[in-house]
Amino acid sequence: MSFDRSIKIAPSILSADFADFGREIQAIEAEGADWVHVDVMDGHFVPNLTFGPPAVAAFRKHVKTVMDVHLMIAPVDPYIEAFANAGADIITAHLEAGPHIHRTLQAIRATGKKAGVALNPGTPAEAVAHLLDLTDLICVMTVNPGFGGQKFIDMTGKVRTLRSMIGDRPVHIEIDGGVDPSTAPKLALAGADVLVAGSAVFRGGSVANPAPYGENIRAIRMAAEKAAGARAA
Ligand code: DX5
Ligand code: ZN
Repeated sequence: MSFDRSIKIAPSILSADFADFGREIQAIEAEGADWVHVDVMDGHFVPNLTFGPPAVAAFRKHVKTVMDVHLMIAPVDPYIEAFANAGADIITAHLEAGPHIHRTLQAIRATGKKAGVALNPGTPAEAVAHLLDLTDLICVMTVNPGFGGQKFIDMTGKVRTLRSMIGDRPVHIEIDGGVDPSTAPKLALAGADVLVAGSAVFRGGSVANPAPYGENIRAIRMAAEKAAGARAA
């Protein structure tokens, strides 16, 4: 994976048809998805339960782009190897999932995968000040994690702070939760480059009628790119 800060759209399959993940993944990639965002939830760290390493390994067979695995689980460390073996390209752990995020990121990188750290809305940007050389991606949650389709919580200020903290390090700023064409511009302007979207991508479409997926992806991308174009160089 080479690094660049161009806008990337990462649909979350949490909003896909749970009876048809393979064809849903093929459909969103055919309709322009840059990454595929996979939301792993354990019913402990967040009040919802989704899927584990065997399911992620099955998704891998269909993902041709980048499989961006978001671990909303605690503890994280005992499962890192299993998700790496399942084929994740990026493994993102929540800073709040345990006392040793520094060690967790080291462990993810030791598997050869890209390491991400996710921040819940209540966690300040400064919390990652000592992790910037250990991480490849900072995921800024703009909802409290656990469900798709929730109301957007504005974290534009946090994104701006992170952008200045990162400097020219090859670290992505990913936004996750409530992203759509109306919320994407201010986040892109503030410095975000990866936009996760579940309900805003899957709404109105289906495996049998995937065209809305492409329209929705393009709408978010265009809104973000227009704003990002106004970013200070
Ligand atoms: C929430 C997940 C998000 C969610 C995004 O805990 O981490 O990735 O699926 O869904 P929308 O875009 O519908 O808010
Ligand atoms: Zn997510």
